[in-house]
Amino acid sequence: MNLPSFVKLVEVGPRDGLQNEKAPVPAAVKIELVQRLQDAGLKEIEVTSFVSPKWVPQMADNAQVMAGIARQPGVRYSVLTPNLQGFEAARASQPDEIVVFGAASEAFSQRNINCSVEDSMERFRPVVAAARAAGIYVRGAISCAVGCPYEGDVAPAAVARVARLMKDIGVQHIGVADTIGVGTPLKVQRALDAALQHYDLNDISGHFHDTYGQALANTLISLQMGVWQFDTSVAGLGGCPYAKGATGNVATEDVVYLLHGMGMDTGIDLERLIDAGQFISDFLQRPSHSRVAKALLSKRAA
Ligand code: HMG
Ligand code: MG
Repeated sequence: MNLPSFVKLVEVGPRDGLQNEKAPVPAAVKIELVQRLQDAGLKEIEVTSFVSPKWVPQMADNAQVMAGIARQPGVRYSVLTPNLQGFEAARASQPDEIVVFGAASEAFSQRNINCSVEDSMERFRPVVAAARAAGIYVRGAISCAVGCPYEGDVAPAAVARVARLMKDIGVQHIGVADTIGVGTPLKVQRALDAALQHYDLNDISGHFHDTYGQALANTLISLQMGVWQFDTSVAGLGGCPYAKGATGNVATEDVVYLLHGMGMDTGIDLERLIDAGQFISDFLQRPSHSRVAKALLSKRAA
């Protein structure tokens, strides 16, 4: 097995994790969560999204949260921008990276961003150009890369198509996303292989939701392919408002435990990460979805 020695985790809890919460989470809580995550050693944090507050009310405080975080040198902060309006709003808060988000499924593209896959690229094109001109790194997310809540199984060819379209408009890195967590390792491998037709191994990350409990297995097969960048969410927070029933991303704590246990470095302090997860779980008044956090917290209590 040729596993990477270092793995970069992009913490998406503040954005993907919280976007679906029904009750408002105050900006101050989001800001403290970001602080605790960077204190735990996370160097990449997806903070918020500049989307329509009518579509995703929880992210309406985007500018306030970006203004409130205490930036640390060496930490990169990213935000989602679906269109030029979102990018212009985001720009004022000086993100290090923006994320345009498309889908491998037409139906999901329509429900999530209200346009076809092809039209989404025309919306992204000026965003990517403006971001790159401003020296802001551009990541693209490919949702529903293995399955779609409306269309079922998604063919690898659909992933390859979106990867090519994103490459054509200048997206620098792509995340292959199992939005609803239906993927199993061989399907994920095929989706990643499709993305690899257009992007270098170093420019691809995995974004796995854990709805069916497959995310760690999917992470492992990705690692075996040499993929070394993943989006994860503290306490396994999350779900997508346009993917009913989908649960959060794989818990950052669980991935860190897996990686450290296999001798891979992340730069993350698991104990402090567990504290960050406990902080947000306490606020939300529900237990963490992280199995590792549960195990280590009960060990602490004993
Ligand atoms: P639209 O209705 O087609 O947009 O929505 P529009 O351009 O026709 O504008 C309509 C209204 O929205 C106007 O306001 C605009 O000003 C406003 P009105 O005149 O009616 O008052 N508007 C905006 N407001 C704030 N920020 C903006 C913005 N753009 C337009 N950027 C749009 C298109 C994309 C805006 C909408 O569909 C939207 O906001 N969708 C949100 C989608 C979303 O956030 N989904 C969750 C994130 S993606 C995800 O979780 C997946 C991921 O994790 C990977 C994975 O797991 O798959 C990334
Ligand atoms: Mg997601």
